[in-house]
Amino acid sequence: MKITIFNSSPRAEHSNTHRIVKAFLKGCQKAGAETENIFLARKKIKNCLGCFDCWTIKPGQCIIKDDMRVLTDKVMASDIVVLATPLYVDNVSGIMKNFLDRLIPIVMPHFEKDPYGETRHKRRFNKYPKFVAISNCGFPEQSHFQTLKLIFRRMARNLHTELIGEIYRGQGELLKSDHPAVKLRLKQYFALVEEAGYQIVTKGYISQDLQEKLEKPLIPASFYNRGANKSWDDLIEKKEHFPIRSPGHPDDD
Ligand SMILES: Cc1cc2nc3c(=O)[nH]c(=O)nc-3n(C[C@H](O)[C@H](O)[C@H](O)COP(=O)(O)O)c2cc1C
Repeated sequence: MKITIFNSSPRAEHSNTHRIVKAFLKGCQKAGAETENIFLARKKIKNCLGCFDCWTIKPGQCIIKDDMRVLTDKVMASDIVVLATPLYVDNVSGIMKNFLDRLIPIVMPHFEKDPYGETRHKRRFNKYPKFVAISNCGFPEQSHFQTLKLIFRRMARNLHTELIGEIYRGQGELLKSDHPAVKLRLKQYFALVEEAGYQIVTKGYISQDLQEKLEKPLIPASFYNRGANKSWDDLIEKKEHFPIRSPGHPDDD
């Protein structure tokens, strides 16, 4: 089984998303899957031009010459695609949105009614990879993922596949914490994520029991908010950068 992760955090290797992905991959590999982890921030992905040449002039292929050609092939060669993104303004990151827009060549232009009675584009291929969603966000409550949950479900329907697993983590900025008590809690959390990776490969879904455990807060929301506000005050007062630096930050040129 081939599993490909597409991580769309601008922070790439330093991202909180990557911390979840690493644990998930460990579980997938333990279960015998072949895995590939791709940082979209390290790839050249221009925005879709809306020309529809991928449906008329060159059916199935985008005319833009950038990394999406190879990435689209990687999507279609996978059994499972993991869409991993930080929550940005209640949505996927801009990098992920560009990536998803540019996948439009993998369906046909023609309309048809889907099993829910809604119009969709016809399939271009017999088989599409199944989807798993991974995300984290800065706010503490799991409710911040409500838009994202809907987006991933609809993406799966648009692309003739199903969403077989979802891992959403509020309090995401804790994932890099060095505080001893938090580290202990994170160890438990990452073990659950690893188990989710294992279950996805061996069962094709995440059990209800595990899903409930994955959704539990890492620490009480009131502690988290107090800590976050204190950290922001410290950074503002000392005029310091946020501790995670994204590749491509202008100060690094
Ligand atoms: C432009 C931008 C928009 C964001 N929007 C949200 C948001 O709507 N809700 C939220 O809880 N966190 C939001 N965040 C916080 C990120 O989700 C949070 O910092 C997350 O841990 C980043 O994950 P990463 O390290 O994987 O990129 C936003 C951050 C940025 C930079």
